[in-house]
Amino acid sequence: MVGFLELRWPLLGSKAQNKSKNWEEDYINYASSQKKVARYLKRLSCFTFDKSEEQNYILDLFCGTGENTQALKSLNCQNVTQMDLSYNLLQHGLAGQRVCANALQLPVKDEVYDKVVVQGGFHHLEGLEAFRHCLQEISRVLKKGCQLLFCESYLTRRLSCVLWALETPLVYLHPQAPAVRRMVRMEGETYRHWLEHWNSYKKIVQELFEIEKEQHSWNTIFMSCRKIL
Ligand SMILES: C[S@@+](CC[C@H](N)C(=O)[O-])C[C@H]1O[C@@H](n2cnc3c(N)ncnc32)[C@H](O)[C@@H]1O
Repeated sequence: MVGFLELRWPLLGSKAQNKSKNWEEDYINYASSQKKVARYLKRLSCFTFDKSEEQNYILDLFCGTGENTQALKSLNCQNVTQMDLSYNLLQHGLAGQRVCANALQLPVKDEVYDKVVVQGGFHHLEGLEAFRHCLQEISRVLKKGCQLLFCESYLTRRLSCVLWALETPLVYLHPQAPAVRRMVRMEGETYRHWLEHWNSYKKIVQELFEIEKEQHSWNTIFMSCRKIL
């Protein structure tokens, strides 16, 4: 464990719940690790990773099984910390810097990271206040003027159709779809709230960060945000 990690608050009493074992199993198995790395790498191509930044400290928050970290490593990012609430999922991550922690209570000193990257995680938080709290934590651990990059689900007509189809027999037409349906159902309220209230979440981003880039695909929003000094 590197020097800037510290236990600032006890995790006891945290409201955040670890996902159920079933959700974790579906999440591990719904696609191969290689496919996930390829998907995350494609998403990361929306952002710039400068050669001069290769030694920078990056926090992969909500890292899950660590495929986003693998994608970052393939972009030559040398110092990536994987952090997730689930000890089970972290076991699948890359050996090295793995920290089991709540995104609402980061066990890290102030201003230590050059970048925080989130590839799907904010939609697990319980609403707007939890999101604000999490962003405050991210802002606290980021160095002055540094960036938060995130990709999250984004509601388009096409995604609505997919979510609708998941609840019909069409779900059996695709081998991975039943697992995706179970995950969506288990994420339930927080996922729906995120999708339906994106504009309110975005206002909170703007309280703490300057949005440098916002890009949408058919189901994902890509945001590059700089910490306001
Ligand atoms: C969709 S998965 C993450 C995908 C991941 N970024 C990847 O690269 O594979 C969401 C993750 O958020 C984690 N999580 C949920 N609530 C959390 C919290 N409060 N703090 C930290 N991690 C959390 C879950 O354990 C899960 O691994």
